[in-house]
Amino acid sequence: MTEKILFRNMGIPNSWEIDVYESRGGYEGLKKALRESTPAEVIDVVKASGLRGRGGAGFPAGMKWSFVPKTPGLQRYLTCNCDESEPGTFKDRQFVENDPHQLIEGIAISCYAFDAAKAFIYIRGEMALGARRLERAVEQAREHGYLGENILGSGYSLNVVVSRGAGAYICGEETALLESLEGNRPMPRSRPPFPAVVGLYAKPTVINNVETLSNVPHIITRGAEWYNTIGEAPRNTGTKVYSLSGCVKRPGNYELPLGVTLRELIYEHGGGVLGDRGIKAVIPGGTSAAMLGADQLDLKLHFDAVAQAGSMLGSAAVIVIDESVCIPHAVQRMVRFYERESCGKCTPCREGTRWLRKILDRIADGSGREEDIPLLLDLCGNIAGGKTLCGLGDAATNPVLSGIKLFRSEFEHHIRHGRCPEGTMPGGLGSQG
Ligand SMILES: Cc1cc2nc3c(=O)[nH]c(=O)nc-3n(C[C@H](O)[C@H](O)[C@H](O)COP(=O)(O)O)c2cc1C
Repeated sequence: MTEKILFRNMGIPNSWEIDVYESRGGYEGLKKALRESTPAEVIDVVKASGLRGRGGAGFPAGMKWSFVPKTPGLQRYLTCNCDESEPGTFKDRQFVENDPHQLIEGIAISCYAFDAAKAFIYIRGEMALGARRLERAVEQAREHGYLGENILGSGYSLNVVVSRGAGAYICGEETALLESLEGNRPMPRSRPPFPAVVGLYAKPTVINNVETLSNVPHIITRGAEWYNTIGEAPRNTGTKVYSLSGCVKRPGNYELPLGVTLRELIYEHGGGVLGDRGIKAVIPGGTSAAMLGADQLDLKLHFDAVAQAGSMLGSAAVIVIDESVCIPHAVQRMVRFYERESCGKCTPCREGTRWLRKILDRIADGSGREEDIPLLLDLCGNIAGGKTLCGLGDAATNPVLSGIKLFRSEFEHHIRHGRCPEGTMPGGLGSQG
């Protein structure tokens, strides 16, 4: 049984209340950081831990913090990204609803490390319970002296504000998120400059995911050396919360070390495939990640191994697709999402996702044309690869490219015969209950 670190308080009655959190060792990391370490030492410990961002890109957290200019008197911000809208991802909601103080403690330690006096938690609008729990937790932390002026007599002060988003996938993209926080229409900014240098209100801003920040109290309390014993040092340390969904018997969030195999996650923890059918494909990191074939079940789920296999770990939302699912229909569903969520700022994404969806619609509906597969591939090449300000356009192309690469014959079958390949249907047999 793997030790639960981030999820250690899940299932404890009233785990979101400060007295419960304190009784389980909560806020000891913040006390230790403020009493025993300088800000630079905190950054060094987080760097040595190898902690990488859990929001998608896997960028080393300590390194990001060290980019923040140290100019005295300069306002610096931290923004916690709790927008969580990638299809398949549902871990951050569990963090904020059940253990908001773990996140607040992580935020306080991180802000101390790069001397930010204000932090925002940007939470997706639909997460009403999470927002209420966070607001209450911020209030409790202030009353107990963990936030506000002169925290625990250290001389360090921090304000935390919970800000509810309106509910759009693009708001999770870090620069669109900053626009949204400033009250503007959420559209990505061009980079450089990066937010760590010019961010919210043009001031240095660190943006980190909920899970990334929730790791910080444990790293400070138990040390970088301990953290390196979990997962696969040096580049894939710690645990990861895998959101498992699709055609599995026990979907849910599973906290396991980075490097667990797909097979272990799906069969040992997820109870296997619905109806005991075979696996056709697995998406390892949310729908923006390329699908992998069933021959990849022994792949280790960590940043580097999944990238080497031609996909990405992303937010580690693992979606299982069984053999009864029609891939062209599955791809059509995924692309529809990206078309709808494209903010429209960059032409290749705005026009390209719409065009991709229209072609996939006609393939799925039985009126596909012979030239549609090369046309889809050509279109993807004109959307992805740095032609847009953010990754949404690239995300839309990954299901298409990987779908055609692995299951081209299913697209051809749909085009030639106007229907799903034998034994498959749009949502698979699992959708029939
Ligand atoms: C279209 C798009 C949507 C994104 N949505 C999220 C999100 O919901 N949550 C998140 O943490 N990161 C999201 N990201 C990644 C963020 O831009 C950013 O890399 C991340 O918040 C940084 O935090 P981390 O370093 O702790 O991972 C998204 C990126 C793109 C391109």
